[in-house]
This record gives sequence, structure tokens and C-alpha cells, in this order.
Amino acid sequence: MKKPTVLELKRAKGTRLAMLTAYDFPSARLVAEAGVELILVGDSLGMVVLGYDSTVPVTLDEMVHHTRAARRGAPQAFLIADLPFLSYGTPEAALASSARLMKEAGADSVKLEGGAEVVPIVEALARAGVPVLGHVGLTPQTASALGGYRLQGKDEETARRVLTGAQALAAAGCWGVVLELVPASLAHLVTERIAIPTIGIGAGPHCDGQVLVFHDLVGLFSGFTPTFVKRYAEAGNTIRDAVKKYAEEVRSGVFPSESHSFAMQDEVVKQLYGSSARK
Ligand code: KIV
Repeated sequence: MKKPTVLELKRAKGTRLAMLTAYDFPSARLVAEAGVELILVGDSLGMVVLGYDSTVPVTLDEMVHHTRAARRGAPQAFLIADLPFLSYGTPEAALASSARLMKEAGADSVKLEGGAEVVPIVEALARAGVPVLGHVGLTPQTASALGGYRLQGKDEETARRVLTGAQALAAAGCWGVVLELVPASLAHLVTERIAIPTIGIGAGPHCDGQVLVFHDLVGLFSGFTPTFVKRYAEAGNTIRDAVKKYAEEVRSGVFPSESHSFAMQDEVVKQLYGSSARK
């Protein structure tokens, strides 16, 4: 797998990009082995890996830690790391946080949430050569102010905010924009009106690309599954059944069997036991 460049990604508009989250060595490795070269170390890891009830508590240290692990699992992937909540409030803070994610953790791009209001931040990052993926529509870090995890851009005013936000991000230098939880026809319009790729999640089929949360796709997160998620596997059930069977076999003495144990020469055993009889 050859890592795409930012320029190639920008030019990939219209080519149906597949992106998936991954947060650690094994998941990033599986995703890359499956041929997905766009990996997002999303701050959704707060919920699906760390057990927080939102993305708000996720720290920059946690993002660095998980991005480094994902990078080890997928050395050739184009890795995008989320700037966590309140780590990019000023251009200086955004630059310092991005430096950690790119230089320390090996990310190829950062992602941040917000529309027109984050333009000065995106401009500063772009000027410094930091590739930025934008994110409008439902922005989980500020979901509470939007009324919770609900569809955005249903009326003309909020739909225009999504459209102008995406346009402002494109003009400010983002290489792509995530559209989360917006009506399919609005995502279609945004996709037509901006020259950079749109990556949809709960935004219908007309985006240039799609992204899902790994744990949702494989059935590893039992907390809450949004209706826009398609589950391609029930890995949680498979793992629970395997663990139950293991515990049963340990308790009944079936595991470990001879094939899972190591032999020793009888002679040595005899010497160890000495004259006392072996039980
Ligand atoms: O944090 C995340 O995983 C995301 C995706 C849902 C786009 O932002």
C-alpha cells in the first residue's frame, strides 16, 4: 500500500474514499490489511475505548498515545488525528497541539471541528504546512450546544450554516471536510459546491467519501449504535462467546491440553522428583 499525498487526496474528489477510525496497534493493522489507507484516530476513542460518556474529556496526551499505537499498526496509512476539545482555541495552541500529533505521534494530518469560527485556526495551520481535515454538521465536541447528538441542517438557516462552514473551511486551506449527521440532500449540495472531498458519516451516499467508527462497524461497542451505522460483523458476541468457552474449559480442566503444554524429558523429570514417587 502506498500512502496517498495530501495533493492526491484533494484530487481524489469524486472517487469514493473509504476512511475508518482505528485507535491502537491491532485495529489499525486490521484496517490497513483490509486495504483502507485513510485511518482516523478520532476522539471518539473517548467513548469506544476509554469509556467516557463524550469526547469532551479526551486529552492531547491520550490522542498522542493512541495515534502512536495506530501508527505502529499501520506504517503506510495516511493517518489523521483529532485535535481534542480545547486544544486548538488559538492559532498558537493549535500549532503546538498539531506539532505533538505530527512530530511525536506520526500523524499525517489533523482534524478539527467547526465552521466559519475556526477559519483563523485553519489558516494558521495551513500556513505552517499542517494538513487539516475539517468537520461540520454534528460536531461531537460541542454536541451539547447543538441540542445533543441529532441531525443538523434540517432548516434553511442551519443548512446554510453547514454549507457556508464547509465553504469557509475549503477556502481556509482544508484538504477535506467531514460532514456528520446532516440530510443526504444537504451533503449532496455541499459536495457539489466545494472543490475538496467531503467525507460523510450519517450524511448519505453523495459525499466523496465515507467514514465510520471501527467499533460500530464490527459490533464491538454496545453502548449506543446510531441508525446510520451498518454493522458488518458482531465481533463483540464472538469475543464474549470465546471468553466464556475459555473460562468453562479452564474450570473443567479441558484447557490447557497436551497440545498447549510443553514436554520435558522423562529422565530429567525423574531426577527432579528424586526417589519420591511422582503423583
Ligand atoms: O472522532 C471520530 O471518530 C470522528 C468521526 C466520527 C468522524 O470525528
